[in-house]
Amino acid sequence: MGLALIVHGGAGDISAREATPHRAGAIRAAQIGWEILAHGGAARDAVEAAVRVMEDDPTFDAGIGSYLDRNGNVTLDASFMDGATLNAGAVAGVKRVQNVITLARRVMESEHTFLIAEGAEQFAQEHGIALIDNRELCTPEQIAIWQECLQSPPVRETAKYVPPQAGGTVGCVAVDRAGDIAAGTSTGGMKFKRPGRVGDSPLIGAGVYADNTLGGASSTGWGEAITRVVMAKFAVDALASDRDPREAAHATIEYLAKRVHGTGGIILADRTGRIGFCFNTPRMAWAHITEQTGEIVGDC
Ligand code: GLY
Repeated sequence: MGLALIVHGGAGDISAREATPHRAGAIRAAQIGWEILAHGGAARDAVEAAVRVMEDDPTFDAGIGSYLDRNGNVTLDASFMDGATLNAGAVAGVKRVQNVITLARRVMESEHTFLIAEGAEQFAQEHGIALIDNRELCTPEQIAIWQECLQSPPVRETAKYVPPQAGGTVGCVAVDRAGDIAAGTSTGGMKFKRPGRVGDSPLIGAGVYADNTLGGASSTGWGEAITRVVMAKFAVDALASDRDPREAAHATIEYLAKRVHGTGGIILADRTGRIGFCFNTPRMAWAHITEQTGEIVGDC
């Protein structure tokens, strides 16, 4: 048994210029999460804190700085899972909350598992989470990208669609001293998405999964493909028989590619505190630390 924390900051065709802030942001998120774990904190708190760091960083396609949809709005999706109880919470289509990972956690701690749009925002307000104007989530960079898309919409018809450059879904998996495992995922979804479109990130089993008896996982990449193979649950199940998480991550991405021609990435931590990750996109931002290595490493 050992402490472990791994984050991702999105898998896709991230440009060389964008890789540097993605790497730095992922490492910063891992540092914040690790401080909580190393001081005896709960995996749930570490995951929430790490994901919030990336939601607040305009580099990533989560929280502030997310892609705008065709109507020019940021709409956010997130999920959270507690491997001790199998409690899970998710939100989708949220326009007025910056840190939807916190909202997903509050949903997990309520009698519900999934709330959407205005209902999720009403729940947020009732639970002391500030509502903001959607314009506060729209950065000038993303408004410029949206304006370019209005002129020349992204082509999505290829079977091997690669998520667009710059930005990325974010996620974290952590194992704490009690052996509890938590996982969370947060996203603004695809660039110039159809209003109402929801990908894998808020879907329990596709975008996130955690079970103390095996491990936890968070997905990133092309949401429609990831959803079809229920990728996070597939990855956690692949940890059976104490399989090395690196092998399990590899097998998961291989299955995504072979079965549905999907592109994306997965991060995993198992019940003993070993970690693994894999992606088949040009880049994925990632960072991790375990009690055994004692140092944060990351890249994009
Ligand atoms: N993986 C994030 C999305 O497709 O929305």
